[in-house]
Amino acid sequence: MINKPRGTEDVLPKDSGLWQKVENIARETAGLFGYKEIRTPVFESTELFQRGVGDTTDVVQKEMYTFEDKGGRSITLKPEGTACLVRSYIENSLYANPQPTKLMYIIPCFRYEKPQSGRLREFHQFGIECFGAENPTTDAEVISLASMFLKNAGVKNVKLNINSIGCPECRGKYNESLKNYFNSNKGELCETCLERLEKNPMRILDCKSPVCSKIAENAPKMIDYLCEECSNHFESVKARLDKMGIEYFVNPDIVRGLDYYTKTVFEFTSDALGAQSTVCGGGRYSGLVEELGGKPAEGIGFAVGLERLILIIKSQNEDAEVTKTPDIFFATIGENAEAEAQKLIYELRKMGVYAEQDLCGRSVKAQMKYADKLGAKYSVVLGDDEVAKGVANLKNMTDGETKEIKINPDEIVKEIK
Ligand code: HAM
Repeated sequence: MINKPRGTEDVLPKDSGLWQKVENIARETAGLFGYKEIRTPVFESTELFQRGVGDTTDVVQKEMYTFEDKGGRSITLKPEGTACLVRSYIENSLYANPQPTKLMYIIPCFRYEKPQSGRLREFHQFGIECFGAENPTTDAEVISLASMFLKNAGVKNVKLNINSIGCPECRGKYNESLKNYFNSNKGELCETCLERLEKNPMRILDCKSPVCSKIAENAPKMIDYLCEECSNHFESVKARLDKMGIEYFVNPDIVRGLDYYTKTVFEFTSDALGAQSTVCGGGRYSGLVEELGGKPAEGIGFAVGLERLILIIKSQNEDAEVTKTPDIFFATIGENAEAEAQKLIYELRKMGVYAEQDLCGRSVKAQMKYADKLGAKYSVVLGDDEVAKGVANLKNMTDGETKEIKINPDEIVKEIK
């Protein structure tokens, strides 16, 4: 017996209906905001994430699925989508189209994390990225898309936390004061954070070690160090959210775990998730396109963790499962009727009707039980007699009523639709 790798999940047929529904809502909602789907490879050059996500982040330092391929190249299964989209945006010259470029994606991601509820090694994201737009209207539009998607997906009681983590200019001063603060607690920091203290002290703020996170609680906050431009930008984003009636909380502790963010950052959290409470995270990134070799262009986006989203939907809705039940079931007696039913079912399926028959040689009684189990809305019993006369009884499985009908696809569709 070989089991699935730790931290992975099978999406079984009882759940795949809900997954499809959520994915459809993602595509529809993103479509209303002008986002077009993009599909990029599952693996990329390791360097893309080292440079894109940042080599002092947990993701790059501890969590990547990296291997050498047979040609000696270092390859990484994508831990997130943003760096991949930036690569594709540059490589395919999407900046040459009228801007902004609005892209959406549904992808598997891979992170070697300690698995627990809502934290997997293979998980899925629905994300969007908007390139080439700098103004705060874009930030508010992106946040409103995330908010609308979560609502449309049937999620209740999510909390939107927003913050600004400034630009390289204001970040410089902030990093100095962070260094001073953490230097005074140097003895207690974990080894990784000691290294981060020199290279990128902000990353200490999202260290998962309990000691480091306790120390981080009282660290200076970026929001108190914003330059005038960043501060004005943040005020405008908030004003636009207010105007749209989107409730938010300014949370100075949100710094996000990836290096590329500048200015606006945000997270949607839910109490239904326990420890892994963030269902959606995102923000603006002003330097990433240039960092990855493109001409300077702004970017902003978010990603929703679909496993977490589905956990919330299931915990909040008892009837969350989406199962498609047959419109009609044909029970048959004898080989001749079985073949007639198959032909009829084929015609009905061509017309968009979900029709079923037994494939396992059940008795008529067992066939009817099976039809009931499948949740068929109507059933018909076909024997040689019915086939010869061309008429049969159509039974409404909900109220048990029967009606004589002609065995003809058009006739059947008229009766059951
Ligand atoms: P992230 O915060 O690393 O951001 O991930 C986004 C979401 O993916 C999280 O809020 C969470 O719901 C889900 N997620 C992350 N790790 C796991 C895991 N191990 N198991 C299950 N779900 C997980 C990003 O990935 C950015 N690329 C988002 C973004 C797009 N920022 C700008 N554009």
